[in-house]
Amino acid sequence: MGERGDWGREHVLDPVMLSRVAAGRFGCALDVGCGEGRFCRMLKAAGVAAIGIDPTHHLLEAARRRDPAGDYRIGSAEQLEFEAASFDLVVSYLTLVDIDDFRTAISEMARVLRPGGSLLVANLTGFTSSCAAQGWVRDEAGRPLHFPVDRYLDEFAFWFEWAGIRIENWHRPLAAYMAALLESGLHLTFFSEPEPVSGEPSRQEDYRRVPWFVVMEWRRPANP
Ligand SMILES: C[S@@+](CC[C@H](N)C(=O)[O-])C[C@H]1O[C@@H](n2cnc3c(N)ncnc32)[C@H](O)[C@@H]1O
Repeated sequence: MGERGDWGREHVLDPVMLSRVAAGRFGCALDVGCGEGRFCRMLKAAGVAAIGIDPTHHLLEAARRRDPAGDYRIGSAEQLEFEAASFDLVVSYLTLVDIDDFRTAISEMARVLRPGGSLLVANLTGFTSSCAAQGWVRDEAGRPLHFPVDRYLDEFAFWFEWAGIRIENWHRPLAAYMAALLESGLHLTFFSEPEPVSGEPSRQEDYRRVPWFVVMEWRRPANP
């Protein structure tokens, strides 16, 4: 990822994620599935103290190399090592599709939020994750014709390769995530299928044909 991130992060997700951070006046944050810690450093630059957790050792080592003063810890979303109500902000930046037991993970993220705090989620849409392993259907010249959707209401894991790494992700319909978030007692305060705000026009055009991402902010009620 480096510090810039890939195309989708840089041109589509970061602008909306950072605008939510700026609007929230958060003091401390937990980045669940921080990977190389890129967003922890963006939070720090925005004045929010951040702890990053991730179960993948070599990604955390990369985070520590880039930011020796940062707080990066081994951990899994399904069992967060923190007291209840510890954070103003919990971030899940493209991690829900990676997490096996996402229902337990979401209830853990809600548990460690203080009342009035926010869970900020960027996730792959189910419209694209259902056939992500297959990708675009192309014509004979290789031009993209359409992006398929299949088995949308099922939940299943699939493997794909990205930047030379083999990754297992999960497809789930949007309703599965929404139900888990609602059951955790959180209230939806922001929802977006973000548009690209910069980047090469041809990439922007491709992106507009098939939306990849959803961004949501869920608040833990101050007085449940
Ligand atoms: C697509 S990467 C996103 C990393 C980072 N948030 C970013 O935007 O660059 C997904 C991350 O989720 C992590 N992950 C996988 N299973 C997890 C779990 N059970 N709990 C927390 N993180 C997990 C992976 O190790 C990986 O770093």
